Amino acid sequence: MTTSQPGARPQNPRFSSGPCTKPPTWSLDALRDAPLGRSHRAAVGKDKLKAAIETTRDILGVPADYKIGIVPASDTGAVEMALWSMLGARGVTMLSWESFGAGWVTDVTKQLKLDVTHLNADYGQLPDLSAINFDDDVVFTWNGTTSGVRVPNGDFIPADRAGLTICDATSAAFAQDLPWDKLDVTTFSWQKVLGGEAAHGVLILSPRAVERLENYTPPWPLPKIFRMTKGGKLIDGIFTGATINTPSMLCVEDYLFALDWAKSVGGQTGLKARADANLAEIEAFVAANDWIDFLAETPETRSNTSVCLKFTDGRITDGAAFAKAVAKRLEAEGVALDIGAYRDAPAGLRIWCGGTVETADIAALLPWLDWAFNAEISQ
Ligand SMILES: Cc1ncc(COP(=O)(O)O)c(C=O)c1O
Repeated sequence: MTTSQPGARPQNPRFSSGPCTKPPTWSLDALRDAPLGRSHRAAVGKDKLKAAIETTRDILGVPADYKIGIVPASDTGAVEMALWSMLGARGVTMLSWESFGAGWVTDVTKQLKLDVTHLNADYGQLPDLSAINFDDDVVFTWNGTTSGVRVPNGDFIPADRAGLTICDATSAAFAQDLPWDKLDVTTFSWQKVLGGEAAHGVLILSPRAVERLENYTPPWPLPKIFRMTKGGKLIDGIFTGATINTPSMLCVEDYLFALDWAKSVGGQTGLKARADANLAEIEAFVAANDWIDFLAETPETRSNTSVCLKFTDGRITDGAAFAKAVAKRLEAEGVALDIGAYRDAPAGLRIWCGGTVETADIAALLPWLDWAFNAEISQ
C-alpha cells in the first residue's frame, strides 16, 4: 500500500476531456500571425480558413470528393446542422450508450418529433450493432466521451447501405481511424483531440450526404446557421472557407498551429500511436491494481481518448463521494485537473489520453492515483 507521496509530478496536469490540453509545443506566441482586426472574407482570412480545411483533409485522409466545412457552435452545431437538414427523408435509427448520444436522441424525438428506432446500451456497453437497419438513416457517436466506450471499427456499417450514417466523431477524430467510405456525415470540434479552441465545429459530408441536402427539404423551419443549400444547390462557399457567419481568426490560427503540430508527430498515424501509448500506460496500471477497472466492459471498445475508470474496492460505500474526493486530492496536489467523471455518468474518473497528452505525464500521474486511492480508503 502506498502512503507516501510519489516523488515526481506530471509536468502538465491538464487531463480534461474538453477543452483538452494544447499541443506540448504551444504558447501564446503561436498565435502571432492571426489576421486580427481583418475581415475573414479578405484574402488573408479566406486563405487561412481554406488551409484549415485542406490540412484537415490531408491529416484525416478525407477523400477529395467529400466536403469539409467549418461551422458555428462547435461539434454540437455541426451535429444539429446535419440532424435538422437531413432527417425526415426516411426512417431513423439512433444509437446511444452514454449521455452525448442520448442527447441527440432527445433532440430528434422531442424537437424534430420524429419516430425513431432507438438502440440503447448502459454505460460501459455498446448496443447490438448487428441489429441496425441501414435502410434507415443511422445516427451514432463514434467514441462515447462520457463512458469511454467506442465502436471498435466501421465493419458493422455496410458499404451498400440505403440510409445515411451521421456520426458524431468529436472525441475520435485525430485519435481513431475513421473509415470514410462508411461515414456520410462526420462531425468534430477543435477543442477536443487537437486541443484547439471551442465554438468552431467541422462538418464532413460524403457525396451521398450532399445529394440528400440537394434533394430533400425538411418540413420544419431552418435557422440561417443551419442552412447549407440555396435554391436546391449546396452553398459551396461554406466548404471552401466562406463560413456562414464570422469565425474567430484567433481560433483559426490556433487550429492551424495544432494541425502543424499534428503533422510534426506523424499525422493521423502518429496521433493515434500517442493516444494508444497513453491508454497502454493506464491498461498496465489497471491490470496491476485490483481496486480500479475500466467502465468499458470489453478491451476492443475501450476508448484511447476519454478513458473512464471506476473504483471497484468493496470497502467503498458511497462511490460518487469517493471518486470526487480522489479527484479533489489530485487537483489539490496539482497533479491532475478536471478528471472527475462526467456529471451524468457513473461515478469514477475520466483521464483524457488524446495525442496532445504526453505519455510521460500519464506515467507520472498513475502513482499519484495509487496514493490518492490509498489516502482516501484509509480515512
Ligand atoms: C461525443 C460528444 N459530442 C458532443 C460534444 C459537445 O461538443 P461541443 O461542446 O464542442 O459542441 C462532446 C463534448 O464533450 C462530446 O464529447
